Amino acid sequence: MAAAQKAMMKREFYSDAETYWKSVPATPNGMLGGFADLSTKDISSSERFLEKTLVQLTGKNRAHCALDCGAGIGRVTKHLLLRKFDIVDMVELNQKFLDQARDEYLSGDKSQRVEKFICCGLQDFIPDANRYDVIWAQWVLGHLTDEHLMSFFTRCKAGLTENGVICVKENISQEGIDLDEEDSSVTRPEKVFLKLFRKSGLTVIREETQVGFPADIYKVKMYALK
Ligand SMILES: C[S@@+](CC[C@H](N)C(=O)[O-])C[C@H]1O[C@@H](n2cnc3c(N)ncnc32)[C@H](O)[C@@H]1O
Repeated sequence: MAAAQKAMMKREFYSDAETYWKSVPATPNGMLGGFADLSTKDISSSERFLEKTLVQLTGKNRAHCALDCGAGIGRVTKHLLLRKFDIVDMVELNQKFLDQARDEYLSGDKSQRVEKFICCGLQDFIPDANRYDVIWAQWVLGHLTDEHLMSFFTRCKAGLTENGVICVKENISQEGIDLDEEDSSVTRPEKVFLKLFRKSGLTVIREETQVGFPADIYKVKMYALK
């Protein structure tokens, strides 16, 4: 069995990730593994993708309530979701990041519009039913095993409003599943993502590849799922 599959089966897959993230500074650079300079391009591509998806589903380019999954200090919440939604909830494993978000990073009016700061692993998280117009999961799903990812998606579907949509933005490996032993995560190839979406009962309604990132890092893809 490949190393990545073996690692995901170990109990330490989750505890090692938790230990790793406790050691990471609560800064944009910490969230992006030293690639903070890519944040502006990342956010502007996400914004266009999100707007097109919302217009496709509702005819409007904004909506009421979003959930940021694996939110960290709230980089995506601050620069993307709070610009497009009246209220945002954040779910994140590491309480230190949520504290930083609430007390500093999202200061002023912005933190007022974050309704829930939820400290929980996505493998255990149960969204409130019919609450979210968009559930956004970015650079976090490699921390879930395949089984947990599928059950997470199933619970997310129940958390969506009628026109709601799940948006995934993740690194994509070229062929097999790559293991990162440092942060205890995996990077999946596109075909594995597509299989997991299908097995979770999700259909891809829009997909896009991130442009403008350096050629020597993983390809990044966005998917909108119903
Ligand atoms: C690479 S950072 C990305 C943060 C944010 N999504 C962004 O794009 O700025 C990954 C985040 O996922 C969180 N995380 C790791 N494993 C998690 C899990 N099982 N459930 C929820 N969050 C997790 C980490 O604590 C960290 O904040």
